[in-house]
Amino acid sequence: MKLSSLAVTAILFPAALSAATPLSETSDLIDNDAVPVISEASKARAAELVSQMTLDEKLSYIGGIDGFYIREIPRLGIPRIRMADGPQGVRNDTKSTMYPCGIAAAATWNRDLAFAYGKSLGTDARARGVHIMLGPGVNIYRFPKCGRNFEYYGEDPYLTSETAVQYIKGMQSVGVMSTIKHFCGNNQEYNRNNGSSDIDERTLNEIYLPAFRKAVQVARTGAVMSSYNLVNSVHMTENKALIKDLLRDAWGFEGIFMSDWTATYSSILAANNGLDLEMSWGQFMNPRILKTAVETGTVTEKTIDEKCQHILQTLIEFGFLDREQKDASLPEQNPDCDLTALNVAREAIVLLENEDSFLPFSKKIRKVAVLGPNSGNIPTGGGSGFVSPFTTVSVTEGVGGFYKLVADAAKADAVVYCAGFNSDTECEGRDRPFELPAGQIAEIDSIASLNPNLVVVVNAGGGVDFNPLLAKAKAVLMAWYPGQQGGRAVAEVLSGEVNPSGRLPITVEKRLEDNPVFNNYYCNTERLWNSPERVTYFEGVFVGYRGYDRAGTEPLFPFGYGLSYTDFQYSDIAAEKLSDGRVRVTASVKNIGKRAGAEVVQLYVNDEKARVPRPEKELKGYEKVYLEPGETKSVEFILDSEAFAFYDMDLHRFTVEPGIFNILVGASSRDIRLTTAVTL
Ligand code: BGC
Repeated sequence: MKLSSLAVTAILFPAALSAATPLSETSDLIDNDAVPVISEASKARAAELVSQMTLDEKLSYIGGIDGFYIREIPRLGIPRIRMADGPQGVRNDTKSTMYPCGIAAAATWNRDLAFAYGKSLGTDARARGVHIMLGPGVNIYRFPKCGRNFEYYGEDPYLTSETAVQYIKGMQSVGVMSTIKHFCGNNQEYNRNNGSSDIDERTLNEIYLPAFRKAVQVARTGAVMSSYNLVNSVHMTENKALIKDLLRDAWGFEGIFMSDWTATYSSILAANNGLDLEMSWGQFMNPRILKTAVETGTVTEKTIDEKCQHILQTLIEFGFLDREQKDASLPEQNPDCDLTALNVAREAIVLLENEDSFLPFSKKIRKVAVLGPNSGNIPTGGGSGFVSPFTTVSVTEGVGGFYKLVADAAKADAVVYCAGFNSDTECEGRDRPFELPAGQIAEIDSIASLNPNLVVVVNAGGGVDFNPLLAKAKAVLMAWYPGQQGGRAVAEVLSGEVNPSGRLPITVEKRLEDNPVFNNYYCNTERLWNSPERVTYFEGVFVGYRGYDRAGTEPLFPFGYGLSYTDFQYSDIAAEKLSDGRVRVTASVKNIGKRAGAEVVQLYVNDEKARVPRPEKELKGYEKVYLEPGETKSVEFILDSEAFAFYDMDLHRFTVEPGIFNILVGASSRDIRLTTAVTL
């Protein structure tokens, strides 16, 4: 790949303003190592089946049935296809492993764990005969209040993409189709059915679309689910520019494009503009309505055939017409999956504060009181991502495995207070406050006055107001929603059995007003009497740390931040241009403390001079490195053109401008330890 010959998949926007044509060049930003998702043989077999279907059969086929199924056509040997939520466990009609939530998976910054997560979840699906899993969710974290942030992977498109790609590859490696969702612009739960996310072309391409593009082009996801909202005035189930021109024509997606559950708002528009499958049922796309449309030529039969073709060729490619999906040899309660849930939780926990190295607990700490609303249960976010586990380990139970349990705060050597939200207070369908639920802060204050050896564990899907906790607690852990083994993982971190290695996939603000999206989160553009409510993303690409850097605002905890029980020293950065145009960066990291631990070495790129405003730095590489005390390892990053490109609104594609690019390597977005530069 030559940087000079950069030609990138792109889409022209705003869709509402132009009937623009996407560029037809194939992306060279994508490492196309994966095999195409649909073989010619599967396509031919699907075409043969479609040719045998009656019009009524075809029109019924493109609407789901019984909540979570694609209907069967026994006379053609087409089986019933089962779907289930969702990103953090198999939800529907079953108990199953409850994994840590999505943002926890991202907080591990560990690609192998993301793969294992997807694979274990796929294994749970196979044990139950589920063909299609409704996840991962990859909408970008814009603001802490969004009720579904817990399902997603944080504020950065690169970290989100890397996590999603591994998750999908893992899941599909065991014969379960993944569904990337919600395409796109679903960054708030508030008014999600009727709000238009107005996002300019550059911002869409740089921030909100990359994870979907890589899910399609690198991980080869079998399915994509629409969002509920409109994007630039057009509902996503009828958004031709994004479905047909971008997803299909520019990105080459050959799988199933399904609606979110009752996210279809029209028949003719949805049918003609690219929706393949209306879920959960054919309210708008059904024989009663569409037969007349076909007879009158408003919708062509060829269009209906294409939808059936997309669905069938994908089902055939995944083997669903030729084998039983349920693998009876797999246990429904699977110890391997339980271990994956534990391993993800262990690496997801972020140690935010550790005054005077209070953690891990010293040998003097023997009696621990575990208090607070989330101490005796394992909280999770709510809505379609909710999972019913077979078993859980609460923090009380986990700590009980290491320390004596005492009920009274004043008599304990230390107190662990479990604060945060739960499935009632942080969930799909509505947004949540930035402040912790009422009463928790008052309780923390009174406990701190009885016992200063206070640790607060927070369960949330994103940032909260940490200031009152920091004022009282010696240590603060962000545990997210850590899944069924969460209490054990927290206890292992408290005791030092596990050295924390989670890093924030978000920026945490000192005050909510500091967030670059603060003025743009709710409807912020005047609304005409008959138009949808509008949320205009005026901050553009400057979301998360990109916005803090531009404003020069100090965050409370920066993106990429997290403490460890050991220290790491960085040295020896070098960058060289390779003959294929890529750039190789190496750096060394040494564990200079007394405990083994893992560091997340983060690489950011800064474009020294550009003709458009660019973020001061953007994450373009990371590696998690495990080091014994005294051990040094060299870390290598290979940067392709994507690491240096921005989306050019004039050319309607990504471009790399020649010039100097600074390479920043460090322990967080605000803790850069090494720099070098390359000239391209
Ligand atoms: C959610 C989807 C989910 C679907 C099925 C919808 O409410 O937005 O993410 O997959 O329900 O449960």
